[in-house]
Amino acid sequence: MAAIDLNVGATAPVTDEVDLVDLAVTGTVPQDLNGILLRNGPNPLSGRFDGNDVLSWWPEAAMLHAISFQDGRATGYCNRWLRTQRWAHAHNPDAVPSLLDTNPNVNVLYHAGEILALSEGGAPLAVTAKLETLGTTRRHLGQADGMTAHPKVDPRTGELMLFRADWKKPWLRYGVTDANGVQSVDIEIELASPSMMHDMAITATRSILTLHLTSRCYPTAIACPYAGMTSARRGSA
Ligand SMILES: [Fe+2]
Repeated sequence: MAAIDLNVGATAPVTDEVDLVDLAVTGTVPQDLNGILLRNGPNPLSGRFDGNDVLSWWPEAAMLHAISFQDGRATGYCNRWLRTQRWAHAHNPDAVPSLLDTNPNVNVLYHAGEILALSEGGAPLAVTAKLETLGTTRRHLGQADGMTAHPKVDPRTGELMLFRADWKKPWLRYGVTDANGVQSVDIEIELASPSMMHDMAITATRSILTLHLTSRCYPTAIACPYAGMTSARRGSA
């Protein structure tokens, strides 16, 4: 596996949680760009990566970053590690029992009025726009135990298309929630073997799930490497 210096450049971690206001801007922020840009990613609790490959990066603790924009200005920045059992073991052991054992360090979703930090299959965590961890999802109850980090929102209907892949049976479930987060479709898709499902796509009428050939990455998990594509009509198998 190629060596990467994870402590410099785009992957470099930060060591502290900070709150900044009135950020210096290089260039121009559009006057009508109002809102908050959220970014998720692995950031070790020690503030420094130990290894030098992708498996030293990907599993590290989730940290969210938020930059606020208003009226042509970058009005604020803050960052927080997500409050999980992993975080509490390092910073607040008494809080461990009250926090979720998950590490959603991949993506951020805003849907049905809820901001969710997402992992590649584990339980999502609800957060506020100021990056306070709220805990388990309040609006997407069908996904409380786990979901993909790469769901897709239909901009026309507000529906959310998603899946959950697992090394334990059922190996693949496909779901749809309505614009309020209420699950309207939940079906099992039969596979010949488990597969490292990573992403999906949607069309106006179908969801397309790509099944990856993963024997190189997970040699013990794939008894019979499987590659292909399957599609599910939005509302049925
Ligand atoms: Fe991903």
